[in-house]
Amino acid sequence: MRLVDSLRAVVGPSRALTDPDLRATYETDWTGRFHGVAAAVVRPSTVEEVVAVLLACGEVGAAVVPQGGNTGLVGGSVPRAAAPSSARGSPRPQVILSTPGIRDLEAVDEVAGEVTVGAGVTLSALQRHARHSGWDFGVDMGSRDSATVGGMVATNAGGVNVLRYGVMRQQLVGIEAVLADGTIIRRLPGLVKDNTGYALGSLLAGSEGTLAVVTRARLRLVPHLPHRTVALIALDDAGQAAEFAAHVRRRLSTITAAELFDHDGMQLVLRHAGGEPPFRASHPRYLLIECGAAADPTDELVEVIAGLPSRDAIVATDEGGRHRLWKLRESHTESVNAAGVPHKVDVAVPVGRIGEFDLAVRDVIRRADPDARTFVYGHVGDGNLHVNVLGPDPDDETVDDAVLELAIRSGGAVSAEHGIGVAKVRWLVADRGEPDVAAMRAIKRALDPRDLLNPGVLFAISPGRG
Ligand code: FAD
Ligand code: MLT
Ligand code: ZN
Repeated sequence: MRLVDSLRAVVGPSRALTDPDLRATYETDWTGRFHGVAAAVVRPSTVEEVVAVLLACGEVGAAVVPQGGNTGLVGGSVPRAAAPSSARGSPRPQVILSTPGIRDLEAVDEVAGEVTVGAGVTLSALQRHARHSGWDFGVDMGSRDSATVGGMVATNAGGVNVLRYGVMRQQLVGIEAVLADGTIIRRLPGLVKDNTGYALGSLLAGSEGTLAVVTRARLRLVPHLPHRTVALIALDDAGQAAEFAAHVRRRLSTITAAELFDHDGMQLVLRHAGGEPPFRASHPRYLLIECGAAADPTDELVEVIAGLPSRDAIVATDEGGRHRLWKLRESHTESVNAAGVPHKVDVAVPVGRIGEFDLAVRDVIRRADPDARTFVYGHVGDGNLHVNVLGPDPDDETVDDAVLELAIRSGGAVSAEHGIGVAKVRWLVADRGEPDVAAMRAIKRALDPRDLLNPGVLFAISPGRG
């Protein structure tokens, strides 16, 4: 049977899309920088259907590109522009395995403070579900309405609350996933302590669809915080922002977020998303701090802010005011995208070197492309900066290389929370070193010897596989 016919036989014709118009939104990534052609987009809704899809693809050696909400920013969720080739050198078909149909939400386990959900559940649906029971979920980010639990596990998503609750891997207490050969691995009892063998869920967190298709996750929940206060602080530079955030973290256990953006980013957001400037004057850098607690944290936050040097500061306690301040930070991604196809370079930097990096990175970009426009924002509390560059051609990697080289030279990492995808494959060895990458390749070969799952992501495409 032809591949497309086999896929139709598994999920039915309405969930195996081959029409180019219907495939289009699945074939291009959120930034518009990465795209490729799929033989089909297949939308299973159960783990059994995922198994059957993988077997059908395996039969003909087709590459499988797992996709959740397609909000990833490193090109890993869409087909490769240059399709991987078979042992005989002919291009292998690429199939997008789209998971949003796997969206079962089990009842919250109110005693354990845990929940089991399907991979296709969006972050905002998970948040609503948890809050309904007085709990909340520990990872939050601007893509919440589209990003899925499966994609968040696969990218080991970070977001704005990492300094309080950690990254996605730290929320995982169980996993169900399908390996390339159709084997289901499942460990979902919800045991906080479980040292029975290798932690496969932890391995899959950050594996970017290269080792298995995640179908369900058991997640820990955190207490819902009914009182929140947001402050926006105007500062001279990013180093001052990192120190300011560190002071607040030391003094206040209620801190949930410490976010940085710059003057140019704020102007871009105001032009694109609208809204009033928060201060009369302009300032070089802005730090957004949020505290959340069972009781109102405003007084303690105001007291700490008043004791620290800043150019200006405002505090919002009501929902509208908090939303206006958060919008200034969260609208950066869409505002940058609206201004052109961005080079998005997500890096980790030692927190103590944020100030120095923020200045140096603008310098290396200017030298690489004097006409480029640079916007630096991110999660300053955990040393994660997003360097966004507009201007250079999408295929010109000069600025990306300059930023990534600087990140490594500064003791940082070439990916903090977005992953390697296809965008940073060339930098994996430079960052991790040969022995680490050899160990990663050995794991990949053991679990997916035919390179069926997301070839070209994380590692360069191996010629003649499949
Ligand atoms: P996709 O984009 O569909 O896929 C991402 C990767 O995961 C791909 O490699 C794909 O193959 C793989 N994958 C997807 N589903 C599965 C599955 N079920 N099994 C196996 N592999 C799978 N990221 C952050 O970390 N922090 C942020 O603060 C943040 N903010 C963002 C804000 C905006 C506005 C946008 C557009 C993106 C943001 N992101 C952020 C990036 C993105 O939302 C995350 O990487 C998210 O985790 C991706 O989820 P997704 O469901 O969209 O996955
Ligand atoms: C963010 O923190 O806003 C996201 O990671 C998305 C981005 O880098 O633009
Ligand atoms: Zn981020």
